[in-house]
Amino acid sequence: MKVGIIGIGTVGREVINIISCQRAKIEKLLGEKIEVQKICNRTPREEYEDYSFTHDYKEILKDPSIDTVIELMGGIKIPLEIAKKTLTAEKNLVTANKELLAIHGNELFQLAKEKDVKIFFEAAVGGGIPILSPLKESLFPNNFKKIRGILNGTANYILTQMSEGASYEQALKDATEKGYAETDPTFDVEGIDSAHKISLLSYLAWGEIKEFKEIKIDGITGLTAKDIEKAAKNNQKYKLLGEAAIDEDTQKITLAVKPILVGKGDLFYEVNGIYNAIEIEGSYTGKTIFYGEGAGGNATANAVISDLYKVINSKSWQR
Ligand code: HSE
Repeated sequence: MKVGIIGIGTVGREVINIISCQRAKIEKLLGEKIEVQKICNRTPREEYEDYSFTHDYKEILKDPSIDTVIELMGGIKIPLEIAKKTLTAEKNLVTANKELLAIHGNELFQLAKEKDVKIFFEAAVGGGIPILSPLKESLFPNNFKKIRGILNGTANYILTQMSEGASYEQALKDATEKGYAETDPTFDVEGIDSAHKISLLSYLAWGEIKEFKEIKIDGITGLTAKDIEKAAKNNQKYKLLGEAAIDEDTQKITLAVKPILVGKGDLFYEVNGIYNAIEIEGSYTGKTIFYGEGAGGNATANAVISDLYKVINSKSWQR
């Protein structure tokens, strides 16, 4: 397979690094060679002199030899153009862009179907946790009832640091320096990023992307150090939770993001720092729980590369 990578930030850098360090093993498992035909970044990156490098993403889109575009830019305006042009040019798209799909997913999934190409986005939810593939490929016989999760690593990291005495500002600065936070961290702390992710989980569970404005969103910025301290005294912690549920009678799906208090013994109590956890409740499997690093270059890059396996092997996602 011949890939073009657009966006060499925290995740893109690790994607290139892992492919290069693990090439023999990855190619053996994929059953194909991976050629990174071109990489694109707005600012120059000297360390990639062995690669064909461009500042202009259009060069990747119009390169006929590239069959799969990996978009890791963030933001929505240019990624939407990239996604549409990629699919229209009958190339597969792998993206970590949860905002793009939560807002424009209906249109993009439809376009992919029409063009008979694939979109995969494992890295968009839960960082390194394989959650989308199990939901779509392993748990599908269920009638899903509810999905709940800590879906934002940065917010969870901030809440954890604050419960250990750090200030909100210091914790956010730390999360940003470690490459966990979004370019605009209000997405993390105001619950918007969690809302994008719960929307994608809900799509895979029930086949519909909700209008984003219908999601009730509340973040962690209303919580004070005092609130967190008081909770700790009562052996409780605040967690930012995304929740999707279906009403069994009306089949109406409701999505919400809000901070909740959890006590010792609660599943989410021990999910700290950058970790995420997702609980999926199905009619046959009951509750299934997924846990792992929810952000960061390495974990998320693993998810991106796992999508290359699906590009080659899976047709089920287009149905
Ligand atoms: N800013 C996101 C988070 C990155 O902290 O969870 C992973 O999607």
